[in-house]
Parts: sequence; structure tokens; C-alpha cells
Amino acid sequence: MVKASSTLDRVLVLEMVRVTEAAAIAASKLVGRGDEKAADAAAVEAMRAALNELPMDGTVVIGEGERDEAPMLYIGEKVGSAQGSGPRIDIALDPLEGTTITAQAGPNSLAVLAIAEEGGLLNAPDVYMNKLAVGPGYPEGVIDLAKSPTENVTAVAAAKGVQPNEIIVCVLDRPRHEKLIAELRSMGCGIVLIPDGDVAGVIAVSNPETTIDMYMGSGGAPEGVLAAAALRCVGGQFQGRLLFRNDDERARARKWGIDDLDRIYKLEELARGDVIFAATGVTDGSLLKGVKRRKDGSMTTASVVMRASSGTIRWVQGEHHRSR
Ligand code: FBP
Repeated sequence: MVKASSTLDRVLVLEMVRVTEAAAIAASKLVGRGDEKAADAAAVEAMRAALNELPMDGTVVIGEGERDEAPMLYIGEKVGSAQGSGPRIDIALDPLEGTTITAQAGPNSLAVLAIAEEGGLLNAPDVYMNKLAVGPGYPEGVIDLAKSPTENVTAVAAAKGVQPNEIIVCVLDRPRHEKLIAELRSMGCGIVLIPDGDVAGVIAVSNPETTIDMYMGSGGAPEGVLAAAALRCVGGQFQGRLLFRNDDERARARKWGIDDLDRIYKLEELARGDVIFAATGVTDGSLLKGVKRRKDGSMTTASVVMRASSGTIRWVQGEHHRSR
């Protein structure tokens, strides 16, 4: 039996880029067309077909929703061409992270995928998650979701050797973040408000070019696991706590084996062991350029694939000469 870790290493690393490329290319045909559902459906179909070509016994643990609500890439769906014989791999995916962005041709939409050995990714229900992230190079424990935004900004500023008003925080632009934004403004922090796409928002803390120091606020829990997988590879700290709006959401969490509903998850509790994260840009963003289509039908794609155990980050520029 091939050990999952060696297979993650040898076969799947670059193959994962094919999968995110396929989803991004499919979605890119619908950039700016005002139809989020069509863009998402195109990405889902392309990602599923590409995943089914990989020699693995894969299981979707974070996907498009539960079986009764998503016909493809639902949680629990088996994917891969080596069912029963290949390495058992858990998959978290979002074929199109930023459906509205794509429909409106905004920045930062991505096709995203993370894989881990079986049991390595938190089976997060589709509820909100309160997220807090900081980039690499800070002492462990500098951020703490149990503390207030003011306390966290103050701690990060002290560790960085700057004043709190020099800290830049990325936040999703939502009415539910009004209080958080007011608190950050009262400290004089810079706030980068993003319309959507918090996977890219969280990853931005690891990229000095974005100048973003921290990520704060709530967004999708599945996106939280994907972002955690990426930060496991590039460095940085992340904490997440599931947020429940009603009993139905609490029941969903219990169904996936989550008993402590108030738990604060750290990076390694969201994405454990050897994790690989891949993404391809759909539209231009802070992490990656989007798909570029030329008059002759050829395309370029920009992707990244990274691995937690080695810390290797590969930037892959794809030239595609046949329209898919
Ligand atoms: P979709 O691609 O599913 O539309 O998600 C976009 C997104 O902005 C995520 O990045 C984020 O986690 C979530 O939506 C936030 O949810 P909401 O729009 O309900 O605030």
C-alpha cells in the first residue's frame, strides 16, 4: 500500500494544479456575465471531472454542501480513479471561491483545493466561522480569539514594534461587522474592506506586499478550513470558532461529530499533518492573476501549489493552447 504522504508528495502536488486550473478556466468564461450560479456550476463540473482522473481514493470532506443539496462534489462524495486501491485522501474544495465577484468581474476570485491524509481536515459544517489570522514571524499565541479585537491588535502591534494605528486589518464588508469596524477605527487601524473572498483575505496576511497584518471577522467555516490549510503551508497563525444562528446549524455540527460548539480551533486542529493547498486565479487578485483569454482561444493561468510538510511553494504559470 502506498503511503498517503509519499503519494501526496510525488504524484498529487502538481496534479492538483491541473484540477484548480480546470475549474478556473471553466469559471472564467462567465466572468462579468452576472450569473453566479452558472459560473459556480461550470467550475464544479470541471473540478469534479479533473479530480476523478487522479489516482487516489479521495473523499470530499468540505465541498458544495450536503448530498441532498448539492448534486456534485457534495460532502462525502468519493472522487479519484483509484477507489479502494489508491491512497485515502481527504479533500476540501471550493471550485469557485467568490461566485459574486466572478459574476461582477471583481478581484480575488479563486478555484481552491486542499488535500490531507484521511482525517486531516476538520469536517466543518456550512455555518459561519469567526476568524482571526496573522502572518508569519510572530511569537506563537500572539493572537487569541477569546480576546477582544483591541487586545489582539495591541498584541500584534507590540510584537511588530509599531503603534496599533499602524496595523492594517482585512475585514469582509458586511453589516454584521459594523461593531468590529468601529472598534478598529477607534484605534486608528487601517482597514481593507473586501466585498467577498475571505480565503484570499486570510492568505493576504502572509504576503508582505499586501501590507495586511491581520484578518478579522466572520465568514464561511468551509472557507476557514481552506484558508487554514494554506496558512499551514506559508506560515502564520489562525484561529476559528464556529458561529451558529439557529438549532438547525447546531444539529448540523453535531452530525459531523462536533460536540464542543464553542471550541476555538487553532491552525493544526483545522488542517493537520501533511497538507497540500492549490489555487488558480479566476479574476486578478492579491494572490494570483486571473485567467487571461486571448483572441486565438489560448489562455494563461496563474496557480500556486504549496505543501505544509516541506514548506515548498510552487508558482505555476500555465499556457493553454486549446480551448477546453
Ligand atoms: P461564495 O463564493 O460561496 O459566494 O463565497 C464568498 C464568500 O465571500 C466567502 O469568501 C466568505 O467566507 C463568505 O462568502 C461570507 O459569507 P456571507 O456572504 O454570507 O457574508
